[in-house]
Parts: sequence; C-alpha cells; structure tokens
Amino acid sequence: MNNAQPMSTPMPAIRPYGLALSSDARAALKSQRARCLWLTGLSGAGKSTLANALELQLNQRGFHTFILDGDNLRNGLCSDLGMGADCRRENIRRMAEVARLMVDAGLIVIVAAISPFRAEREAARRLFAEGDFIEVYVSTPFSICAQRDPKGLYQAALQGRIKDFTGIDSPYEAPLKAECEIDTQNLHLEDACARLATLFAQ
Ligand code: ADX
Repeated sequence: MNNAQPMSTPMPAIRPYGLALSSDARAALKSQRARCLWLTGLSGAGKSTLANALELQLNQRGFHTFILDGDNLRNGLCSDLGMGADCRRENIRRMAEVARLMVDAGLIVIVAAISPFRAEREAARRLFAEGDFIEVYVSTPFSICAQRDPKGLYQAALQGRIKDFTGIDSPYEAPLKAECEIDTQNLHLEDACARLATLFAQ
C-alpha cells in the first residue's frame, strides 16, 4: 500500500472541534433524515446498477443524495490503493469516513463497494448513529457474477492475469446481519429498488 508514512515526531493530541450546527439541523433543512446505505457484494453483483436506480428514484422524490462508488473513488481519492487486503481495508476506511462526512452534511449517501471484509464494514457502521447505517448485502452468487463478467475481470482472474480477485484468490466475507439482502438473480431492478426505497420510509 502506497499510504502516507507515519510522522517522525508524534502529533500532540488533536481533539475534534464541536460544530455549532448539528447534522440533524442540516438534514432538517432538506426535510430528510441523513443516512448511509452501504451496498456490499461481489464484483458484478449489481451494486452500482442498484445504487444508480435508487438514487434516481430518491432524487425524483425530492431527497438529496450522493453515490460513493468504489470504481469512481479508485479513480481519485483512492487511486493510490491496489487490491491487496491492506489496500482494501484502507479503501473502505476512506469511503466510510467520506460517507460519514456527507451524512453529517445532511445527505443520504449510497456506498457501492465490494467491501469484502466484515471487520471494516463493522468499523464503518460504528461511525454512524444507531439506525443511520443500513447494510445491504447484494448477494448475487459468484457463478452469476462470473457469467455476467461485464468488464472481463473474472475471465482475466480465472486465467491468472489479475491477482487478488474477490471470490477467486481474495476472500469475500458475507454479512451476518445485514438490514437487507438482495439477490439480483431473483429480483428485477425495479423490484429491488422498490425494496430499498422502503428502507427510507422508516
Ligand atoms: S473493495 O474491495 O476495495 O471494496 P472496490 O469496490 O473499491 O473494491 O473496487 C472494486 C472494483 O475494482 C470492481 O468493480 C472491479 O471493477 C475492479 N477490480 C479490479 N481488480 C479487481 C480485483 N482484483 N478484485 C475485485 N475487483 C477488482
């Protein structure tokens, strides 16, 4: 991982400065409850497709949203990170911190990232108030994802041309207590989206 090196002299303790305006107040101005919907699942499971369909629907209903997509962040904020386990941990940590900032700003944030490790997803959950982190397991099975293979990555990984591929030579730890599970194999996009949208009715 090409990560920032620790500082040679320790920093004095830096404490967060308490902001005068609460995140609830920011969200109230948008007439919404700010939350993070975290979509996890294999590459090709349908996370980005779902995230985009849901965001369009929420936008039409007047909600203020933003999508943090793994592929997009890996082209900017996380472009220094590879696919090894340490890099994925750091990738998820950064996505979670950005999601938290956006929720603090009053937005409904949809994260779409493989986020293969339980511990990092649980660490992400701990950044949010109770009920403000909604984990959605996009559980489309490996065989279907590999068959879809929209970017040719499964074929490349199975042929050994790329390493550390999730589900092949890098693990995926399925959630044990996700708030919602969606298998795009058995559910049309519209129905899946409608199901996710119900999470915002509460
Ligand atoms: S994560 O594991 O760190 O959460 P993330 O969702 O950001 O992954 O990025 C995954 C995207 O990178 C996939 O959608 C896929 O397009 C691409 N990718 C490239 N190499 C790999 C790999 N070895 N394993 C999984 N995805 C890969």
